[in-house]
Amino acid sequence: MRSRVLFLDHAGVMGGAELAILDVARAYRDTSTVVLFTDGPFRGRLASEGIDVQVVQGSRQLHAVKRETRLPSIGALTGLLSLVRRLVPIARQYDGLHANSQKAFVTACLAGMLARRPVIWELHDLLTTDHFSRANIKIDVALANACAARVIANSRASAAAFVAQGGRPDLLHVVHNGISAAPFDAITADDTVSVRRELGVGELPLIGVFSRLGQWKGQDVALDALARVPAAHLLLVGDALFGEEAYAASLRDQAVRLGLTHRVHFLGFRSDVPRLMRTVDVVAHTSSAPEPFGRVVVEGMLAGRPVVATGAGGVPEIVTDGTGLLVPPGDAGALAAALTRLLSEPAFAASVSRKGREHASTHFTVEMMVDRKTSHIEAAIRRQAA
Ligand code: UDP
Ligand code: GLC
Repeated sequence: MRSRVLFLDHAGVMGGAELAILDVARAYRDTSTVVLFTDGPFRGRLASEGIDVQVVQGSRQLHAVKRETRLPSIGALTGLLSLVRRLVPIARQYDGLHANSQKAFVTACLAGMLARRPVIWELHDLLTTDHFSRANIKIDVALANACAARVIANSRASAAAFVAQGGRPDLLHVVHNGISAAPFDAITADDTVSVRRELGVGELPLIGVFSRLGQWKGQDVALDALARVPAAHLLLVGDALFGEEAYAASLRDQAVRLGLTHRVHFLGFRSDVPRLMRTVDVVAHTSSAPEPFGRVVVEGMLAGRPVVATGAGGVPEIVTDGTGLLVPPGDAGALAAALTRLLSEPAFAASVSRKGREHASTHFTVEMMVDRKTSHIEAAIRRQAA
């Protein structure tokens, strides 16, 4: 029998961290609950899988605190304390708390101390100034050192950044994301024909970027690269999930400026990523800052598509030995060269995608990920109980 775990996540939308925890929460659905600090499609997705989910609403000021915020407002701190106060009696009904985001961790840490429950932090982020304010990093690391029973990092890069910021190495365990190949295997040739028909692109070369629209996800780099790959069309799959609507608007302006509007398809957030990924000729990951892990890179491999990705952060832990191509962050020229090569050398592209598929389906399985995370959660809870 698994322990009773209270999973906490601040988001109601479906980001990569939310998709990652879905598989673990499913394994715990007989004993456990997921608490979200705001409502959204993620709640429906959890509920549809029979996972107990509650929304304990965080205040507007608390949600307004962003990664780059230096000093949270008094209102945000009051909101945090109110959330903690509501969570403590709930936490007492569980054996341990699992925090799936940075904001959830700060909250879980305080609630866990008051409820005397161990807190496991799943670190999906790189704690560097590319992504967070110094103040934010300091608070996270100090709290982790004081109150985390374990920190599960999504890559060796995320683990190393935590230690470089003064985080305790003895707390850390690295567990890569694992992703099921089944949804990709279920896509038929007819499905991909129908996607091409819907998009009106015939047999033209197609490049796909599958990431929420956000500054460091580098869709602007993809557009600059597209300008140098004349025949191809680009699918930008994803929406501005975390308040980056201005960046999303700037991408549309950029496409107009570069004269690319007829070759760029803004598809918004999609729930049929496997179908779209199996249709494109190349999957491009274009983050302009180091990516903590990068589920889309594994997904591109599972889709049997050649992947070109930014070689920084956790990505080089995924793309090894010719299983994809790596380019430097923010380098549109290098990205365009890699795309051109993959689109013009079919035998090379096929060998990259074959190796990628084999690699991802061996080393990044969902079973492996769930087993490892479960054993860390159980060990942390047992240790506290002993
Ligand atoms: N994704 C999706 N619909 C979209 C765009 C992306 O479901 O329209 C998924 C994508 O397939 C991947 C996740 O969102 O599983 C993004 O995870 P990743 O680790 O690549 O990046 P994150 O957004 O978490 O930083
Ligand atoms: C975060 C990171 C992403 C990672 C995902 C799952 O959202 O930005 O790189 O793949 O978590 O761990």
